[in-house]
Amino acid sequence: MSYERENIRRMAGYQWGEQPEDPDTIKLNTNENPYPPSPLIAQALASMDTATLRVYPQPTAEPLRRRIADLHDLDAQNIIVTHGGDEGLRLAMTTFVDPGQIFAMAEPSYSLYPVLAQIQQARLKKIPLQPDWLPPADLAETLNAAGTRLVCLVNPHAPSGTLMDVERIGQLAHEFDGVVLVDEAYVDFVDPHRGYNLIPLVRDLDNLLILRTFSKGYSLAGLRLGYLAGATPLIEPMLWKTRDSYNIDAISQLLGMAALEDQSWADDNWQQVRDGRARLSSALTQLGFPVNPSETNFLLVKVPAHCPLPADGLQQHLKARGILVRHFDSPVLSDKLRITVGTEEQNQRLIEVLQETLATTNDAR
Ligand SMILES: Cc1ncc(COP(=O)(O)O)c(C=O)c1O
Repeated sequence: MSYERENIRRMAGYQWGEQPEDPDTIKLNTNENPYPPSPLIAQALASMDTATLRVYPQPTAEPLRRRIADLHDLDAQNIIVTHGGDEGLRLAMTTFVDPGQIFAMAEPSYSLYPVLAQIQQARLKKIPLQPDWLPPADLAETLNAAGTRLVCLVNPHAPSGTLMDVERIGQLAHEFDGVVLVDEAYVDFVDPHRGYNLIPLVRDLDNLLILRTFSKGYSLAGLRLGYLAGATPLIEPMLWKTRDSYNIDAISQLLGMAALEDQSWADDNWQQVRDGRARLSSALTQLGFPVNPSETNFLLVKVPAHCPLPADGLQQHLKARGILVRHFDSPVLSDKLRITVGTEEQNQRLIEVLQETLATTNDAR
């Protein structure tokens, strides 16, 4: 006898990347930031009066919400703080898509999206990306024809690292009849010279939601803190109706403020990751591994024919040597690995192991 709802019984659930217990493992598999968070985080934790944990936290994380709004030159009414970016996705799905209605996503992209759609019993429409990892030009038309209520696009895109420009997204939101959620989990790593900033569009478009997270750019994946920016009529139903009561605990509210206070630490961190990305990309290219240009903290790397192992075999081989990277078993990704940019030392160790691997015979293929 099963007490689960039928759709829950049939679904598989989210497959997260491995989180090993051995601290010496080189973890390049879940796109965490390799550098520590700002020292202000440790200071804030140390000075926290734990007696304040006796009472519930501020229900809407108001000071942090205002601080985030200031950062983006928006009003607090344009922001909802969420328990990780993932809660923002869940809120959008449960607030804007009825069971049986269409939820669309680019394929491939974040593997949590289909899971959330299954929970909500939304019908999933996958939009295959073009070879340049961008959506087809007639995306809005296709989405409207299908009666899509919500579309999620990761920008810069995961797992390719490709950046779609602001004009293109603005046009899509303008032409599309449903809600566009642009998942900017990796936006902090975009080269500032690209001049990418989608946030101002929130003021003009009533169907645009932008997701941000502290997990990547602020090195706080363990904290679970993110937010959505959008027009007030999009934010309000999530803030007042569908979110968990007290969704942001007191510690997260405190540490979120501390992280935003130290913007120069964050800026330096992002530049370090960009520099590491450029060096890792060129080292991989020199070894003959084609690398997709990336505006994120990871690289999508094709495993070339001269490598003695195919992509899945190479992932296992690296794992046996203490280096975790991600392989996705899907048609367009099965010959590639997604590799998070690590510290300089970690990246060098990866390159060394790859050099050794290439020097072995081609028997395994
Ligand atoms: C594309 C994308 N969106 C959202 C998230 C959610 O991040 P978090 O829930 O840690 O804020 C992730 C995490 O890896 C991601 O890759």
